[in-house]
Amino acid sequence: IDLYLVGVGTVGNELLSILGESNQDQICLKGVATSKKMLLSESCFDPNKIGNKLKESGDKFDLDEFLDNTGEQKGNKVFVDCTASTAVSQKYTAILDRGFSIVTANKIANTLDYGFYQSLRENASKNGVSFFYEANVGAGLPVISTMQNLLSTGDKIISIEGVFSGTLSYLFNTLTAKMNFSELVNNAKSNGFTEPDPRQDLNGLDVARKLLILARETGAELELEDIIVESLLPTGSESIDSVDGFLKHLGQFDGEMRVKVKEAEAQNKRFRFIGKYEDENASVSLQKIGREHPFYELQGSDNIIAFRTRRYPNQPLVIKGAGAGAAVTAAGVLGDIQQCLVSN
Ligand SMILES: NC(=O)c1ccc[n+]([C@@H]2O[C@H](COP(=O)([O-])OP(=O)(O)OC[C@H]3O[C@@H](n4cnc5c(N)ncnc54)[C@H](OP(=O)(O)O)[C@@H]3O)[C@@H](O)[C@H]2O)c1
Repeated sequence: IDLYLVGVGTVGNELLSILGESNQDQICLKGVATSKKMLLSESCFDPNKIGNKLKESGDKFDLDEFLDNTGEQKGNKVFVDCTASTAVSQKYTAILDRGFSIVTANKIANTLDYGFYQSLRENASKNGVSFFYEANVGAGLPVISTMQNLLSTGDKIISIEGVFSGTLSYLFNTLTAKMNFSELVNNAKSNGFTEPDPRQDLNGLDVARKLLILARETGAELELEDIIVESLLPTGSESIDSVDGFLKHLGQFDGEMRVKVKEAEAQNKRFRFIGKYEDENASVSLQKIGREHPFYELQGSDNIIAFRTRRYPNQPLVIKGAGAGAAVTAAGVLGDIQQCLVSN
């Protein structure tokens, strides 16, 4: 495989480390880029050295130029997207048309309008190349591949329910009635468990995107706007200029949250931020659940996804584990790259 990697941040860097450490003699790294710089070669780069080399040298990044200079060779070319960029995602159909397979950690392409979503699959099929995105949901957890296996072997998905955000999982697995929610969010932010601006976690959009990807996998022609999203942001949060200002604003609602959590504790219940798809309805909301629920014992920042299907009607098929982090996500991406070796 000739590999072209765009995005060398948390996930991309880790992918380079794993490629460098493990003996991937069938994978030849020929191009690497960030939003600023790019490097291309006719021969294989050393993944251990390329990060520094890119910083020190490298040309100014331009995606069209990057693609134009990948050579005319036929065979297994794989474009790996480890950015969160919409601009890169919008190029996928053209990239597939140029004979690349695509492996992506980036959720954007799969959550643009349904027409684009379909054209990705059509273009991959027409060009005899692959499109893999296991790390879109649950990082390295085998969520997408499990669904695809269930569906391709004739199972029918009845419902999908999950805690899809490591950050929101952590917040509600940790929160007690003795804590101030705003302080918990602030501490999580200081420890790097949230986005730099925690509003991006609390608005529920990331969870909605993941749910959309899973719902579409079942064949549902849903759009992001069709998902009912309960944002955890109090009114007025979005217009506040600074993150500190937002956290102060959030503090005004600590009392309200304490009352809710105290009430839940008295009923032996816990809050979880859950995405659910069933009967063509998709929603994302904060829910109070009891001991009987498979998400009650969730710990740390784990993700959990429960599929009820025709074959698993009563006891759902459950996938649980770390749903974020460089190592697991990069491993998910590498798994997809290896799939390209098998598929193409
Ligand atoms: N981190 C996780 O645990 C995790 C888990 C699952 C999925 N993901 C997904 O994986 C992707 C990468 O996440 P990350 O945490 O590695 O992000 P990150 O640390 O912010 O790194 C992003 C990388 O993408 C590059 N980039 C941004 N815009 C670009 C553009 N328009 N063209 C070319 N390169 C561009 C950045 O370049 P500069 O360095 O020049 O800014 C940087 O190298 C995201 O889509 C994320 O949602 C992450």
